[in-house]
Amino acid sequence: MKHNPYTMIFGKEPSQSITRLMQTDEIITQFLSEPPAQQIYMITGVRGSGKTVFLTEIAKKIGAEKNWIVTECNAAKDLLTGLASGLYHDNRLTSYFKSAKINLSVFGIGIEISRAEPITDIEIAVRRMLETVRDKKKKVLVTIDEVTNTKQMREFASAFQIMVRQDLPIFLLMTGLYENIDVLQNNKAMTFLHRAPKIHLKPLNIGSIASNYRKVLSVNEADALQMARMTRGYPFAFQVLGYYTFEHNGHYEEALPLCKQYLEEYAYDKIWSELSRLDKRILKALAASKTGSVSEIREDLGMTPNQFGSYRNRLLKRGLVNGDEYGYLSLSLPFFESYIETHQT
Ligand SMILES: Nc1ncnc2c1ncn2[C@@H]1O[C@H](COP(=O)(O)OP(=O)(O)OP(=O)(O)O)[C@@H](O)[C@H]1O
Ligand SMILES: [Mg+2]
Repeated sequence: MKHNPYTMIFGKEPSQSITRLMQTDEIITQFLSEPPAQQIYMITGVRGSGKTVFLTEIAKKIGAEKNWIVTECNAAKDLLTGLASGLYHDNRLTSYFKSAKINLSVFGIGIEISRAEPITDIEIAVRRMLETVRDKKKKVLVTIDEVTNTKQMREFASAFQIMVRQDLPIFLLMTGLYENIDVLQNNKAMTFLHRAPKIHLKPLNIGSIASNYRKVLSVNEADALQMARMTRGYPFAFQVLGYYTFEHNGHYEEALPLCKQYLEEYAYDKIWSELSRLDKRILKALAASKTGSVSEIREDLGMTPNQFGSYRNRLLKRGLVNGDEYGYLSLSLPFFESYIETHQT
């Protein structure tokens, strides 16, 4: 049997990938323009919306540009040390730092450099390194996946802000769940993050999904479109439905029960468990509503427009509901209605 081309592993670049043209272009254009129009972007979206894949794709594209160095930092570790180490060990840069006599031996990075006083403050170390990078007309993109509101992250963000102000060639791309990015951004000391542009990952293009299914699974045009619509453009569902349909030789109806179960166990259980009771009640009312009319749902719940408005906004920003049509809401995740029906608030 042929190898299944779809993947259900999170965070790994899929071999079947649908490009988000507009959102990719936006970031790359802003970063590459001279002078840069932005030096930071925050990517948010619900679990399984493709944040890690998107980050990796952009990092790859920018890394392929001349004079760009991409460093991936681990959000769970000390970020400035991670960045210093990443830069130091990039083989295009090591010799520059050595000639600039940047001694990082205190941090266990590189080797002792004779006749150079070791630097003891990591922030100063990174700044000195970036000055060297700037002299060499190079630029650095730092990527951080899954940020949360931690002390390391806040320290890193404030150091980053100073480096940007000093015209150092550093760029930052991070991803996080909306709720995590939001608390980080609303931290009083993070005024600069407050203004950082956010990209809410949109659903994948339905037409592109349909043509992928048609080509890869050899299903007919009508089936391919029907399947694509079923995924609602949710990247994880695109992979899972593709995977099981492939296993069932293109008979997607047979694949559906497994597909739903997989989505529930690997994404929806976690998403549901992270919601407040009131969020769940609103989603339940929406799932039960025939029209999706905002006023109907709100009255059904006995909430005031103000109360309802703030919950609705949060659900929109988290990427759980879609409000493209004025006055109406719908669920963003595929088959989520039936999941909600069988789960307690
Ligand atoms: N552009 C894309 N085209 C096709 N499939 C994609 C795309 N982006 C992501 N996927 C698929 O969707 C699934 C989830 O992707 P990813 O791990 O990037 O999500 P995430 O938003 O980082 O999730 P989490 O919040 O759990 O970290 C993976 O199976 C991945 O292969
Ligand atoms: Mg991820």
